Amino acid sequence: MAVSRRDFARLFAVGGSAALFADPAWARDYGQANSATPAIGGTGEAFWKSVRAQFVMPPDLGVLNAANLCPASRPVLEALKRETDSVDKDPSAQNRSRLTGEKENTRKALAAFLRVTPEEIVITRNTSEANNMVSSGLDLKAGDEVIVFADNHPSNLTAWHEKAKRFGYTVISIPQKNPHPGMEYYLDAYQKAITPRTKLLSFTHLSSSVGDLFPAKELCALARRHSVLSLVDGAQSFGLLDVNVADMSPDFYTGSAHKWPCGARECGVLYINTRVHKQVWPSIYSAYPGAVGISRTFESFGQRDEATMIAFRTALEFQAQVGRDKIEQRSRALTQQLIAGLSKLPEVKIWTSPNPSLNAAVVSFQAGSLNSQRLGQALYEKDKIGTAGRGGGDRGGLRASPHFYNTPEEIDRLVGAVGKYLKSGI
Ligand SMILES: Cc1ncc(COP(=O)(O)O)c(C=O)c1O
Repeated sequence: MAVSRRDFARLFAVGGSAALFADPAWARDYGQANSATPAIGGTGEAFWKSVRAQFVMPPDLGVLNAANLCPASRPVLEALKRETDSVDKDPSAQNRSRLTGEKENTRKALAAFLRVTPEEIVITRNTSEANNMVSSGLDLKAGDEVIVFADNHPSNLTAWHEKAKRFGYTVISIPQKNPHPGMEYYLDAYQKAITPRTKLLSFTHLSSSVGDLFPAKELCALARRHSVLSLVDGAQSFGLLDVNVADMSPDFYTGSAHKWPCGARECGVLYINTRVHKQVWPSIYSAYPGAVGISRTFESFGQRDEATMIAFRTALEFQAQVGRDKIEQRSRALTQQLIAGLSKLPEVKIWTSPNPSLNAAVVSFQAGSLNSQRLGQALYEKDKIGTAGRGGGDRGGLRASPHFYNTPEEIDRLVGAVGKYLKSGI
């Protein structure tokens, strides 16, 4: 049963609306005075400035690299420190059992965040592990076919190809078309690739290369109509888009805490739809399983770092307090600002679709004939802007991925600096 919006709000009502924002311990442990209490419910620049103040990045450093790694907010850092200290101060069985209970609260929070049930949630290390638990856990054999998107991350592409060598199934690859040819194109491509031998289709909800948004709900419905399984890699949508997994209805959905949710590093999620619990094998058997549903068999990972999992829950609470719809709108507005700015520089080739219904918060571009590695370095050293390099001949250049802690000024600074280097060289 899916979790309603009201349940979701109730779950995250932690002791008053500003409870997370108002903890003075952040200021003590993480420097930078936390003077302004954010105006919860606001939307203007003053509100976003107060949100930014909950991150320990220096105000003059603009890191536009959310698709790779997001910073944890002060409340998340505080939770991580508090719970890590707790284990080291008191490693007794009693304290450990308290932490185990806390892990289950994180499972509930994840279920509410994705609008599914705790029985369908496995807390993993990251998206890579979650994707691989799917490709290692299904009974696939010679004669079976798996359809993948050619621009999937290696954990959802190389993994399928390599395991095909061992299990004997065939991998069919849907090529990426640039710029994004439209949702219908990919629906049609997957539809045509399905045969009576197809067992699973996998795709990336939002691609990490150029930010192609996929028709996730429609592709999952297509898979269901053909009795085929669906794996949605949500590494770039979880914590960015206001994803409703119940409505999307995939068989598997995966994500990482340390990307858009701004959680602690090395924590992630694997959603496994109840309807396929009997079709997938665990990859690891050990001690300390989860308490409910699929986690009882799938999450026996031995000794773990509960502090990281508790901090993950704090990250979800933080997002809920800021407003998930607002986070998505803010990141998308910064994206469109970036695309509009870069479009005014005639030498810049933008690989990402400018159409906001086909993109979200991941923008890749080549700045004329400038060497992208040197450009990325100059932007970081001279202009205090962090981007990611995209090497190779395939849609090479730089990638900028703005999130809700970034500012319009940082976007202008990036566009201005690229224009400057195009004129004067690096
Ligand atoms: C689409 C996609 N899937 C999976 C991953 C792997 O994420 P992680 O390194 O957190 O396992 C990434 C990382 O960038 C990604 O972009």
